[in-house]
Amino acid sequence: MASYLNSSMVLSKPKQPASHLDFLNSQHLSSWSPITSVRWRTHHQRCSVQQVRASSSMGKGLKVMISGAPASGKGTQCELITTKYDLVHIAAGDLLRAEIAAGSQSGKQAKEYMEKGQLVPDEIVVTMVKNRLSQPDSAEKGWLLDGYPRSSSQATALQAYGFKPDIFILLEVPQDILVDRVVGRRLDPVTGRIYHMTYSPPETEEIAARLTQRFDDTEEKVKLRLQTHNQNVESVLSLFEDITVKVDGSLSKEDVFATIDSALSDLIKQKNASLGMAAA
Ligand code: AP5
Repeated sequence: MASYLNSSMVLSKPKQPASHLDFLNSQHLSSWSPITSVRWRTHHQRCSVQQVRASSSMGKGLKVMISGAPASGKGTQCELITTKYDLVHIAAGDLLRAEIAAGSQSGKQAKEYMEKGQLVPDEIVVTMVKNRLSQPDSAEKGWLLDGYPRSSSQATALQAYGFKPDIFILLEVPQDILVDRVVGRRLDPVTGRIYHMTYSPPETEEIAARLTQRFDDTEEKVKLRLQTHNQNVESVLSLFEDITVKVDGSLSKEDVFATIDSALSDLIKQKNASLGMAAA
């Protein structure tokens, strides 16, 4: 998998835009030419960059898992990946928070575990994820599974249902950075976007005023969540060794995305090449 890190498709990387996602979201991607030179304004600067065309079909059928410690940047990268590759983003944590918000029995049970930074039992999580993966859009577009599996039993359960990833991305970030990221994280309940008060601040006062914080985003709770992650990560990794790409998640989000983008582009090329060979 090391070859994935040398894709020629990433022509140039943005230099520290304040919000790369703003840029991606503001474009009509389907109308881009294959390689487009564009300009956009952030609240700090105006930049020029060559951007590889994002075609809504380029990631078609791709099956991606993304993993990493709490606040390693999974959600942030998923926003960028889905914008470019149009995969169905399925985040185990979001599914659980939706159950909590709906006041369901599963949600009530799940919250008890989440407050302690522990894994929610398989009988709740596995079914939830399996049901979402089984919906037609996931099969048609491909999927991006975020924060699942977190144990070997979750991995084998998914495999038993016939869901097998093409690639397993692991974001690696040192612990002191993780705590800082958790404590500064804020969410926009209107757009669902993830912010950080220092690294990715809200663009306007209006957005800043409505930002919320997750109930498990305290220094005390993130240490428990980290403990749980550290106890389980090796057993999960050992099951996906041959398709794992480790990414330095401590870099800027644009640089992290450039590495992931490169890996996914190479994967698509390899899949297309093997499809071509099979057809010949
Ligand atoms: P979940 O919601 O999945 O939380 P998590 O794994 O702890 O991950 P986070 O969402 O906290 O972080 P992230 O990696 O998405 O980082 P983000 O992009 O937001 O799970 C919550 C709980 O649900 C678990 O503890 C467990 O109880 C339960 N659960 C979930 N899945 C389960 C499963 N499969 N089985 C059982 N239980 C399960 O970034 C964080 C911050 O950093 C943001 O402010 C962001 O702006 C900033 N940031 C991101 N990238 C960068 C960067 N490169 N540079 C600077 N800042 C950055």
